[in-house]
Amino acid sequence: MIQVGVITASDKGSRGEREDLSGPTLATLVQEIGGQVVEYVVLPDDQGLLEDMMRLWADERSLDLILTTGGTGFSMRDVTPEATLAVADRMVPGIAEVMRMESLKVTPKAMLSRAIAVLRKRTLIINMPGSPKAVRECFAAIAPALPHGIQILKGEASECATTLKQP
Ligand code: MTE
Repeated sequence: MIQVGVITASDKGSRGEREDLSGPTLATLVQEIGGQVVEYVVLPDDQGLLEDMMRLWADERSLDLILTTGGTGFSMRDVTPEATLAVADRMVPGIAEVMRMESLKVTPKAMLSRAIAVLRKRTLIINMPGSPKAVRECFAAIAPALPHGIQILKGEASECATTLKQP
């Protein structure tokens, strides 16, 4: 079971002025890769609060995967990538590259997301844009590789050669 935390970054959502649809969408999607959302929070677009939550879930809760949704665009309040970078030990550029590459086939606006993916200790943290549609498109692009990456991160898989034969 992949233990997942979902952070929705939204000023309006955190004030209860907008229903968060992207977080629940992610909770459904992660089941496709054997994941279960064990932590979920809606936070304002506040870099410090976002960083604190990611550190807590990576360091104390030892979650396998943290998915964020929202706050990746150009608004001056969009700071999710900056918060993610601040807590990063190592970068995973390929994940964001594939999300944008596949999303660009759907909309040219995909290039406006500044989403990144990083590793902090044994936790993979991935940013996604803020709409349920974007979340579905981005998740579909990366889902096939996520379980293997998380297995390696947890030390449960080291032989890539054997799994390469699988789709
Ligand atoms: N990516 C996908 N796959 N589908 C989308 O509809 N919307 C884009 C982009 N990425 C979109 C997408 C838009 S319109 C914006 S402004 C940026 O994500 C940033 O979104 P955010 O500020 O909600 O994070």
